[in-house]
Amino acid sequence: MKASSFSLESAVITKQQREQVSRAVSILNAGGVVAFPTETVYGLGADATNIKAVSDIYRIKQRPMNHPLIVHIADFSYLHEWAQAIPDSALKLATQFWPGPLTLILKRNRRVSDVVTGGQDTVGVRVPSHPIALALLRSLGQGKALAAPSANRFGRISPTTAAHVQKELGAEVNMILDGGSCTVGLESTIVSFVGDNPKVLRPGGITLAELESVFGASISMMHRTDSSTTRVPGSLPSHYAPTTPLKLCATEQLWQYAQKLTSQQLKTMVITWSTIQRPLQQNEYLQHCSMPNDPESYGRELYAILHQLDQVGFDYLLVEMVPDHSSWLAIEDRLQRASHHTI
Ligand code: TXA
Ligand code: MG
Repeated sequence: MKASSFSLESAVITKQQREQVSRAVSILNAGGVVAFPTETVYGLGADATNIKAVSDIYRIKQRPMNHPLIVHIADFSYLHEWAQAIPDSALKLATQFWPGPLTLILKRNRRVSDVVTGGQDTVGVRVPSHPIALALLRSLGQGKALAAPSANRFGRISPTTAAHVQKELGAEVNMILDGGSCTVGLESTIVSFVGDNPKVLRPGGITLAELESVFGASISMMHRTDSSTTRVPGSLPSHYAPTTPLKLCATEQLWQYAQKLTSQQLKTMVITWSTIQRPLQQNEYLQHCSMPNDPESYGRELYAILHQLDQVGFDYLLVEMVPDHSSWLAIEDRLQRASHHTI
């Protein structure tokens, strides 16, 4: 995905949306919590300078207080209000990919509250590209920003439509701004500039190849099971999980495994991306869902499909392993986490 696909020219919103944004701004400035669309997933936002409002996010999400939130800002020029000692390489990435699905972890500016950073000395910052998110951020008061995690309960699948948020958190938020389906569909790429070398903490909407093309060098990635980083909730091995057990399976064994499950009368949904022939006959325990075979479309649809399939009452979601290529990394990461509890 190219940074140019997040051009500000698309930041035009309708009169009705503008009215909704004004209402959201009043709620946020009064200390409320508003779910809002971003290009990645929906966020659960509060005024980042209001400790009580930010605490409410943790309560609503049922998220441990020591897991930090991302600060969403309206423009690159506000970065220094939230972070300090910003390396040139971080500025380079921000210039290239903001507004867009990239979060930078930097040393925090002293004014940033411990509630936002989970008590850490660092802060995560990003400029989202969704026109409604940008309109919202630009309309907040001077020096303000939105602290926002994804608008789902801790450990669950992120929402990519307003209806997903409504279903899970509708009763607890003051307002949900509807901005349609998220165009990226997976969370932002997180790059930390805290250690000696920049490190990718979470693969996401910006691919490794895109980061490296700006760096002009390779960039290391934190491994999923790195236990030293358990304060980064998105990096817990079990995360982004549907309630239905999900199992990942190599293409070669997929249908054989499906047969095994269905012969035990386990209601199974097989999810594929390749055009591998399906050898099994239709039966009452077996269903098949064909996903796009390009990573951008697959990523856009994945969470919506998982939300939908979770409603059906399958015993198993059997997912074909995705290609071993860097453009699929974020998808592979989310599928691995979603399958973590499934034996
Ligand atoms: O695309 C996204 O990033 C979405 C939208 C709403 O912007 N947000 C999102 O937030 O995914 P959340 O809270 O679900 O995931 C943010 C991740 C978490 O893993 C969190 O621990 C990490 O960012 N994070 C935030 N601040 C951090 C910090 N100071 N150091 C390390 N990790 C941090
Ligand atoms: Mg999340």
